[in-house]
Amino acid sequence: MSGSFDPSQLSRWPDAEGPGLVAADAADLLLLDESAAARAAVGAGELVVIGDGYGALTLGAAADGAADIRVHQDALSGEAALAANAARLAPDARFSSHGLEPALLSGARIVLLRLPRSLEALADIAATIAASSAPDVVVFAGGRVKHMTLAMNDVLRASFERLDVTHARGKSRVLIARRPRPVALPVARAANVGGLEIRAFGGAFAGPRVDIGTRLLLTHLPTPAVGGTSADPWIDFACGTGVIAATWASRRPDVHVYASDHSAAAVASARATAAANGVAERVEVVRDDLLSRRPDDSASLIALNPPFHSGSAVSDRVAPRLFRDAARVLRSGGELWCVWNSALRYRAELERTIGPTRQIARDPKFTVTVSTRR
Ligand SMILES: C[S@@+](CC[C@H](N)C(=O)[O-])C[C@H]1O[C@@H](n2cnc3c(N)ncnc32)[C@H](O)[C@@H]1O
Repeated sequence: MSGSFDPSQLSRWPDAEGPGLVAADAADLLLLDESAAARAAVGAGELVVIGDGYGALTLGAAADGAADIRVHQDALSGEAALAANAARLAPDARFSSHGLEPALLSGARIVLLRLPRSLEALADIAATIAASSAPDVVVFAGGRVKHMTLAMNDVLRASFERLDVTHARGKSRVLIARRPRPVALPVARAANVGGLEIRAFGGAFAGPRVDIGTRLLLTHLPTPAVGGTSADPWIDFACGTGVIAATWASRRPDVHVYASDHSAAAVASARATAAANGVAERVEVVRDDLLSRRPDDSASLIALNPPFHSGSAVSDRVAPRLFRDAARVLRSGGELWCVWNSALRYRAELERTIGPTRQIARDPKFTVTVSTRR
């Protein structure tokens, strides 16, 4: 355990909470242990934390004496949870949140990295560290063994000359990367799918492709005469790379679209996708947890392909949070168009949370429904 800090006191709030959803785990503890000696040797502002779930790494390092820690978390809910945990458990901790950009890493000598799920996200993080940190930077990259693959070692080796692998403990392992290579900062991955330009940074959902569920939704998604104004934009909720927003704006040159996602990589991707399709002026992209910045009873049309992961955990607690916020934001008579994996049986939940729900399409894997706000 680090200093006087007890990670079991951390909360995930405001992120989804429930069975199997933890705020700190053995990989966080191993990362803190493996990096303890190296952290003790660096000064204020020289420690960077990337991918902290809910504050275990940042607040653990702060309890050991680290000051002015720079932190990047892809999910806005993780940022909010870190702030809430710090206020409650470690009010003196000194840290600041940043995007995945050179300012996060300039002068960094130690990086604690919680390994992301996707190799693309790891590649972008590793290249940003290598391109921006001090030449003697040491990266401690840890995760649960069941979520780690040998391909992660290759991705880290593309940005660092030396990679050491520690012994596993508590079903977790740490990779230690040193000697950054002279690599370029990451750029978005790009593809043209059926005339739509897609841009994807990091681990944005589906990468530069159209997910098969999203494709089914797009086939049936209406472009009605209601909404689409700047006061009542059509909403691409949890937009990922922004394929729904860009498709809507391309199909209807008169409408305004609002796209939001809690992931920094998704937001950067959706902005780049809108720009690549020449619709950026009518697509507002916002990083937000749920639709917290949209007023109650204000929207005529929302499209949603809901998440079913929280970090690495598959959970049925995630989508209902999004349904509840869609219900708050829709005006009476407004519609939520949703695609979901048929095995998840969301229909009763949609009926209860939003209102009368009709099945629009179904293929062997996915169901498209429209729910009308009562
Ligand atoms: C299944 S993907 C759909 C992405 C995109 N709409 C598409 O169809 O390709 C779900 C998205 O939900 C986002 N997400 C998860 N939890 C969220 C939350 N609490 N608030 C906003 N977005 C969230 C994820 O980052 C992810 O981009």
